[in-house]
Amino acid sequence: MFKLALMVWICVLVLQESVRTNIIDEMDLSTVQLIKKNGYPVEIYNNIVTEDGYLLDMYRIPHGKIRKKRKSRNPVLLMHGLLGTSRDYVLTGPEKGLAYFLADRDYDVWLGNARSTIYSKNHLRLNPDTDSDFWDYSFHEIAIYDLPAKFAIIKNVTKKERLSYIGMSQGTTVFYILASMKPEYNNYVNVMVALAPVAYMANFYNPMYRLLAKFEPIWAPLASLIGLHRIPPPPIDQLLVEANRRFCTQEGFFQVICANILFLSGGYDPLQLNLTVVPALYEIKRTASIRQLRHYSQNINSGLFRQFDFGKKVNLEKYGSPKPPAYNLTKVTAPTALFYSEGDWITHALDVETLSEELPNCVYKYKIPYKQFNHYDYLIANDVVSMVYQNVFYVLEKYNKII
Ligand SMILES: *[C@@H]1O[C@H](CO)[C@@H](O)[C@H](O)[C@H]1NC(C)=O
Ligand SMILES: *[C@@H]1O[C@H](CO)[C@@H](O)[C@H](O)[C@H]1NC(C)=O
Ligand SMILES: *[C@@H]1O[C@H](CO)[C@@H](O)[C@H](O)[C@H]1NC(C)=O
Repeated sequence: MFKLALMVWICVLVLQESVRTNIIDEMDLSTVQLIKKNGYPVEIYNNIVTEDGYLLDMYRIPHGKIRKKRKSRNPVLLMHGLLGTSRDYVLTGPEKGLAYFLADRDYDVWLGNARSTIYSKNHLRLNPDTDSDFWDYSFHEIAIYDLPAKFAIIKNVTKKERLSYIGMSQGTTVFYILASMKPEYNNYVNVMVALAPVAYMANFYNPMYRLLAKFEPIWAPLASLIGLHRIPPPPIDQLLVEANRRFCTQEGFFQVICANILFLSGGYDPLQLNLTVVPALYEIKRTASIRQLRHYSQNINSGLFRQFDFGKKVNLEKYGSPKPPAYNLTKVTAPTALFYSEGDWITHALDVETLSEELPNCVYKYKIPYKQFNHYDYLIANDVVSMVYQNVFYVLEKYNKII
């Protein structure tokens, strides 16, 4: 009797495991696999070399599912946020993913991957696992090296003078840095759309991150002392993926916990969250350099949008001043559209107001009326199309006069 019960129980476990494996098989797909699975065309640009030797991958959805006859399509580059990848824009499927939404509306969609993400983790000389120098970058370097490399490819392939740029979170930070450090890039952009822009962080809300930022002067040297250059370091990155598969894939208590980790980071909005998206979101390894975290921490602490603070001595050598210089937003002359919300624990509405006053060419400012809209809702909210993407499309159309 006992043996039978045990066998039945084991069968149930095995069955459960196989059901779960199915979900995992689906959610395990990479950016390119997801695009293909959803029936869209995809082109892969491998090993784009940056000026400082990083090798990046970029993907392109040249047109929608149905190829309409049309002389030309206007390119739009999508850049992801911190700990994000191109996959964030195709994860939720054709009905909701921004990349599909734009491809179906006749845009030529380019998906960027920043250095060190799972799709861009190589370098001409440096090995991410053995050379700590690989991790010596912040979003400053993503801005001034990664973006120009991507712009060059898009220009070469499409032969278009200008592109539209859509950034989410850090994807917006890097644009402002590029446009202020290398102002000639303003001429290549017909409009920049900022989803949850991050530049000024004086009012940054997330209490946990604020506290972490405050102690940056303490943990930064400690991290360097123990040789920690990225988060999460291996093998913790793999363990997190395993934990996700175990705990976040099944409906119930643990999945709710997994969702709450998202809320604790970006703001509480259970109404717009589809719980089945959570495990797919956590599925891939996500990495950031300690330097990226330090840089954001410094800007939270100073309330300014400045270059990386290396300490007085190095600052004097690098910048000729004891404090790092502020990014000059006056130089960001490309037309800019800002999307933000009150429920966002990372992008604060007040900081967006400050930003919009400094940007000389802010052409559109949209505070999402739904008050609980959080930081990640730009990617995964159930109603993201009607709440945000319709307006994004309106702005793009306005600045992309189709020839
Ligand atoms: C762009 O195309 C030209 C001519 O085909 C080539 O010489 C150049 O290396 C290309 N640049 C990039 C960044 O691919
Ligand atoms: C939630 O996501 C699943 C899988 O992508 C989808 O089948 C379902 O329709 C979504 N539910 C809502 C309310 O959007
Ligand atoms: C910022 O850029 C503007 C426009 O180029 C320039 O007039 C101004 O002097 C710059 N400000 C600083 C502090 O460098």
